[in-house]
Amino acid sequence: MKIAIDGPGGAGKSTVSKAVAAKLGIVYVDTGALYRTVGYYVRKMNKNPKSAEEVTPLLDDITIEVKYIDGSQRVYLNGEDLGDKIRTPEMSMYASAVSAIPAVRAFLLDTQKDIARKNSVIMDGRDIGTVILPDAEVKIYLTASAECRAMRRYNELLAKGQTDVRYEDVLAEMNERDTNDSTRAVAPATAAKDAILLDNTDLTFEGTVERIIEIVKEKTEK
Ligand code: DC
Repeated sequence: MKIAIDGPGGAGKSTVSKAVAAKLGIVYVDTGALYRTVGYYVRKMNKNPKSAEEVTPLLDDITIEVKYIDGSQRVYLNGEDLGDKIRTPEMSMYASAVSAIPAVRAFLLDTQKDIARKNSVIMDGRDIGTVILPDAEVKIYLTASAECRAMRRYNELLAKGQTDVRYEDVLAEMNERDTNDSTRAVAPATAAKDAILLDNTDLTFEGTVERIIEIVKEKTEK
């Protein structure tokens, strides 16, 4: 079973996918973490994440491993588990910048395809239905209004204890990242032709999970 979940930031892809994975007993794969890991290394080496000339040679020094421990994904960069270090707003911007570089996408392609070959998966990202799993049985493009997505992100940051965040900044960063992700030349973030569009602006978290389970049942019973 392969389920592809694509969509912009803040639509709830990762939390919703995790819950669906637990209900269906399949593996949740967070592909954004891989781009964040590359971004982290580029930041560490003080290179410009928008420059293909600066980023591409760094890929030779990187080994990325993905492991699933008690159902949760861990990503190792040259043997080190980066944990939450890749979860900052700065790393979101670095990930988005490096993800536009074709060599970075090519570098991460096999890792993603390999995981899906070996497991039943629900995989979230930006190009899962279009590039990584074009044959997925179920493809969903999960979205919500920009204001709603920014408000969710803002609340998440507050819940993590960050006090110096402003909603307006979160909204602006989110819009910048979405534009960057959806207008890049290679594998732009877009809904696959056969994806089901699910706008969860007016849905609760539980409602979104239920709707996805329904869609999976409808598709797999056919
Ligand atoms: O899902 P996320 O916010 O963790 O992703 C971080 C960035 O990585 C996102 O802005 C674009 C990029 N990305 C991508 O280009 N393709 C994917 N399949 C997943 C993420």
